[in-house]
Amino acid sequence: MKILVTGAAGFIGSHLAETLLGRGDEVIALDNFNDYYSPARKRANVAPFRDHARLIFYEADIRDADRMQQIVAAHQPDVIAHIAAMGNVRYSIGRASLYTDVNLRGTVNLLEAARCGDVSHFVFASTSSVYGKTDRIPFEESDPCNHPLAPYPATKKAGEVMGYTYHNLHRLNFTALRFFSVYGPRGRPDMMPFMVMHRTVNDQEILLFDAGQMKRDWTYIDDIVAGVIAAIDRPLGYEIINLGRGEPVLMADFVEIIERLVGKPAILSTPPAPPSEPKINFADISKARRLLDYDPRTAVADGLARMWDWYRREIARKA
Ligand SMILES: NC(=O)c1ccc[n+]([C@@H]2O[C@H](COP(=O)([O-])OP(=O)(O)OC[C@H]3O[C@@H](n4cnc5c(N)ncnc54)[C@H](O)[C@@H]3O)[C@@H](O)[C@H]2O)c1
Repeated sequence: MKILVTGAAGFIGSHLAETLLGRGDEVIALDNFNDYYSPARKRANVAPFRDHARLIFYEADIRDADRMQQIVAAHQPDVIAHIAAMGNVRYSIGRASLYTDVNLRGTVNLLEAARCGDVSHFVFASTSSVYGKTDRIPFEESDPCNHPLAPYPATKKAGEVMGYTYHNLHRLNFTALRFFSVYGPRGRPDMMPFMVMHRTVNDQEILLFDAGQMKRDWTYIDDIVAGVIAAIDRPLGYEIINLGRGEPVLMADFVEIIERLVGKPAILSTPPAPPSEPKINFADISKARRLLDYDPRTAVADGLARMWDWYRREIARKA
């Protein structure tokens, strides 16, 4: 199969591209290597597979509609796995225009490229943040999620909705995957797993909201990639599917596991959570199990140990 992977230099996109190459697919990859976090980190993410014979890599911006059309027309992929985005709920506050440009207009550019290039299957990276603050636990795909707490989830929800329009009008198969708190090797430097490791190693303070009483459904990267590939392999019409682990972890316990790996206590500051942060995210993954045979296997302690191995090898040693 030939798959266009956007955001292929990022955390999730680089693992996805590498795994697809590993199983024999052709990959057309693109990323704009923006400096939201270090472009050098992104170049290191792609280094292990950059020269693969079945890979073509474009340094390109999804906001450039013409370029997206050209790339899709030139390669005629079977599937578009649209992973590129501006992430991070809190960073999106005050940056609604940027998030709308990248996450919504960029998504529309790829949907248009799919329509014009006769690509029949589109997999979209959405987020658990679309659920906002809710008392319905665990989160089910059919739950209402019309009250996003910040621009980031608002633009992701808008992408899911726009996907429906293309499904309706142009019979595009569109699967939105709502990822829940993904972690692992190449983990993003703005997310808690990396920050807790890095700041503890360097004796720097860490913000732990609500004294660690929030819960997050941490999901290991290999489990997420397996779910994305299952969605790539199965056009389903229009579906929204949670990809989480289904076992939320208390943040205080999560930090304790990392402290044990690092071998020293974290320096914690514990302010109340800001209004953009829900107390819990918790995936109901029965739909993913049913439609994708999704079966997340990695326990948080094991996943963090693997991430710590990577951190020591790739980050600490090269610092
Ligand atoms: N990591 C998580 O826990 C998580 C949770 C929910 C959803 N997601 C979603 O998964 C996807 C991947 O997230 P990630 O954690 O790998 O983030 P990431 O920032 O590591 O990867 C995103 C990649 O997209 C690229 N990109 C951004 N804007 C672009 C543009 N205009 N043109 C081309 N490329 C651009 C970036 O350079 C980056 O390499 C995103 O859509 C994100 O919203 C991630």
